[in-house]
Amino acid sequence: MFELYLDTADAKQVARFNACLPIKGITTNPSILAKSGKGLKQVLSELDSVIGSGGRYHVQVVSQTVDNIVEEAKNIHKLPYDMVVKIPATEVGLAAIKKIKAEKITVLATAIYSAQQGFLAALCGADYLAPYVNRIDAMGANGNGVVADLQLLLNQHHLESKILPASFKNVQQVMDVLKLGVGAITLPYDIAVQLFAHPSVQPAVDQFSHDWQEAFGSKLSFES
Ligand code: E4P
Repeated sequence: MFELYLDTADAKQVARFNACLPIKGITTNPSILAKSGKGLKQVLSELDSVIGSGGRYHVQVVSQTVDNIVEEAKNIHKLPYDMVVKIPATEVGLAAIKKIKAEKITVLATAIYSAQQGFLAALCGADYLAPYVNRIDAMGANGNGVVADLQLLLNQHHLESKILPASFKNVQQVMDVLKLGVGAITLPYDIAVQLFAHPSVQPAVDQFSHDWQEAFGSKLSFES
């Protein structure tokens, strides 16, 4: 089942899209939380009041050593929500992921810039893999190509990790990864807004309304 996430800590932004889309949950990172000016517990409480039970929250560790990452992951996991622990897929991070998976904690390997890096995280047991599409593109490489190669490796080696592409700056990047059949995605608010924003939609709806009212006034369809 495809999982749609919003990459924000802003409950008002989440409320807008939770009303009209099947939002699975929220992804955050230390920069997003720092920008919000709120602590994790307050952010989770606000998001939970919007999304309600069943919302899944991806929260990143800030610890830097294996033991500290493992300890922080256990504490994130204990929070009273459906939590996924995000861990950067560095050498230290992969060592922590191996240990954490023995505890049956759900893990997302983040900061993935290459297919081979994502593949190694999958071998360590990461449940989700987050390649940074726009950041890769911005380096002059091919973010969509990294996602395609990673999906191929997962398929060929029968690994069950789900790719959750992140970091988007335009709709085309989103469309390109969706066409690869990824199992999840996280969208920044402004990109989610743009997915709706085709200039021809509202004029088409307005024309239907105009034609109807000319013929039937204020009657509703079933009253005509
Ligand atoms: C995923 O959750 C990442 O932390 C995030 O999407 C990175 O996005 P950015 O490249 O726009 O900062």
